[in-house]
Amino acid sequence: MKKLMAANWKMFKTWDEAVITARKLAELVGTVPDDREVLIFPSFTSLKGVSKELASKSSFSTGGQDFYTEEQGAFTGEISPKMLKSCGAVFGLTGHSERRHVLGETDEFIGKKTAYGIEAGLKVVLCVGELIEERKAGKVEEVVDRQIREGLKDVPRDIDPERISVAYEPVWAIGTGEVAGPEEIVEAHGFCRKILQDIFGEKANEIRILYGGSVKPDNCSQIISLDNVDGVLVGGASLEGESFSKIVLA
Ligand code: PGA
Repeated sequence: MKKLMAANWKMFKTWDEAVITARKLAELVGTVPDDREVLIFPSFTSLKGVSKELASKSSFSTGGQDFYTEEQGAFTGEISPKMLKSCGAVFGLTGHSERRHVLGETDEFIGKKTAYGIEAGLKVVLCVGELIEERKAGKVEEVVDRQIREGLKDVPRDIDPERISVAYEPVWAIGTGEVAGPEEIVEAHGFCRKILQDIFGEKANEIRILYGGSVKPDNCSQIISLDNVDGVLVGGASLEGESFSKIVLA
């Protein structure tokens, strides 16, 4: 199972800034190590440019940060998996904490989106993770259990495990510089694995579980070597080719 090194560029970068960053990243990374895969989630407006820039580079792919649950129609402002794929995207992201807590997406809608994205041919990364109040109240397992089960509710049980990943991102560690400690990560990832096994049986061992939340060049190699950490999802430190290339190669 290759480690998935994913960059979430959120609402950053114009088209040309994104293309230049992707070019620089590919140059700095050179040949991606055999056991790694690099994934960029640019904004919709730069998706095609970044996909084209990386098209000839092996082990690089792109994805859409969001999508709607229809192929087309009167849904002003929305975008479909089919449109993402036409811009070169292979992946889609669902359940990111900013969509849950800033844009108000529910578990139910995230589950619908995840299943629709899979059905429409994307590989989907489902993000889960607790708020600081939930951690303090001892509810990490309750929250993660609910978010994974609801998020994957309608995903076919015979799915190719390559097509689904879970990103554990404790909300209090996102963009704060406060990274979860190794024990917290191992514990949460082990728990995610158990839930996935309960849902998918043995093939759950081939589903990648990524960690996200203040991953940086200087903490990535430790995080990536922990049990049940099959990749990372990086925000701030993925915005520059220099720092993200160090993470990819960590
Ligand atoms: P961060 O963001 O690396 O800036 O903490 C992670 C994410 O939002 O996926």
